[in-house]
Amino acid sequence: MTALQLLFYICAALLAQLTIGIGLAAWRWRRNATSPTTLPFEAGAIGQALAWPGLRDFRVLRRQFEDTLRTQCSFQLAPVDGAPLPPFLAGQFLTFALDIPQPAGGASRPITRCYSLSDAPRPDAYRITVKRVPSPPSRPDLPPGVASNHLHDRVKEGDLLRVRAPSGRFFIDGDADVPAVFIAGGIGITPMMSMLTWCLAQQPGRVLHLYYGLRHGGEHAFKARLEALAAEHPAFHLNVVYSQPAPGDVLGTDHQHAGYVDVALLRQTLPHGRHAFYICGPPPMMAILIPALLEWGIAPQDIHHEAFGPASLAPVQAASGEAGITIATAVDIQFRRSRRTLVWDGQDASLLDFTERHGIAVESGCRSGSCGSCETAIVSGTVRYAVKPDHDMAPGRCLLCVGTPGSALVLDA
Ligand SMILES: Cc1cc2nc3c(=O)[nH]c(=O)nc-3n(C[C@H](O)[C@H](O)[C@H](O)COP(=O)(O)OP(=O)(O)OC[C@H]3O[C@@H](n4cnc5c(N)ncnc54)[C@H](O)[C@@H]3O)c2cc1C
Ligand code: FES
Repeated sequence: MTALQLLFYICAALLAQLTIGIGLAAWRWRRNATSPTTLPFEAGAIGQALAWPGLRDFRVLRRQFEDTLRTQCSFQLAPVDGAPLPPFLAGQFLTFALDIPQPAGGASRPITRCYSLSDAPRPDAYRITVKRVPSPPSRPDLPPGVASNHLHDRVKEGDLLRVRAPSGRFFIDGDADVPAVFIAGGIGITPMMSMLTWCLAQQPGRVLHLYYGLRHGGEHAFKARLEALAAEHPAFHLNVVYSQPAPGDVLGTDHQHAGYVDVALLRQTLPHGRHAFYICGPPPMMAILIPALLEWGIAPQDIHHEAFGPASLAPVQAASGEAGITIATAVDIQFRRSRRTLVWDGQDASLLDFTERHGIAVESGCRSGSCGSCETAIVSGTVRYAVKPDHDMAPGRCLLCVGTPGSALVLDA
């Protein structure tokens, strides 16, 4: 046998092994999609085997508004290639590479944004739900949210979107014996819809509590679906909390409580015993609720949370100083591709803020260490993180959005 033939046989054997592995994973995923015993870690392992690298084209199958004011729109997405989808872990998100058309026909602007999957995993389609972001009420001069308004106003059924595989470390655990408490503020309901529907299908009998805080009935998303699930599943306890009920909103019918989702309400309504808390909401809600839960005596490992954006940085900034890493104050940061060297003066919360303030173009998405969009190669030096980012970086690379310099740096940006 010649060396060439030997090489051919080795390659063929490797290819066959890979095909069998992927085939088995796909078969198990399709089988487990209807099995009540699928555990999150099983789904995660299968998901990793089927995840795609880079971007994949998805077609918008269906759009649907979820609230009466039509501020939250769901997009059901199917892969153009028709191959099975990775079974994401309920609570994870997708990252979108969007091309935003510019006024006056200029070149479109690429931006990256993350959106949580808002339904339980299924092999043929994903669903996200996007809230239209207006200009801040105190700054009507600022433009409204770029990506959310683009999706609401321009993306139609049949259009294509480019999407990265599901990721994120905010997902439901597999311990059906511990009751789960889902706390959602506004659009933070999206990962909860995914976790809730997954639990109801895969962990029948698990005690589940949903506390859903919003202003009034006009923005009450998934209302009919949540009410139907609560009526159907006695172990699911629905607590909707309106902070500014509208004249037609009826206490006891449309919402169970008036006010805010706070620890006082949880203490009043939750039975005694251990619970696993899952929290996603606007920064002020998270900033109050998480310390209050800790103060109440909830173990940190029972509190899982995600913020939709830079709010996730809060715990990073709070925990200053990591063992063995010196906090750099005035150090040189060299951007090799941009041919610029700048001085880090400690003014910015992250290397991403620093690069953007100095007009250096870098990609970003979640701005919270989850999506990997801002991953950049380190030529020399060290980057520090006050808490380990969710996204697993390749060796020799850093995440600009949650990193600060640990020394002088040369970055490939
Ligand atoms: C893991 C994760 C999951 C997420 N899941 C969801 C989800 O399920 N659903 C959902 O709707 N969102 C979700 N998000 C949030 C989403 O990714 C976007 O951040 C959101 O849609 C806003 O993006 P945008 O481009 O519309 O707004 P941006 O253009 O980023 O604007 C945001 C705000 O900043 C204001 N602004 C504009 N210019 C300035 C300026 N110069 N100075 C100060 N302010 C300015 C805008 O008026 C707007 O109010 C998630 C985020 C993360 C990280
Ligand atoms: S922008 Fe998502 S990891 Fe940095």
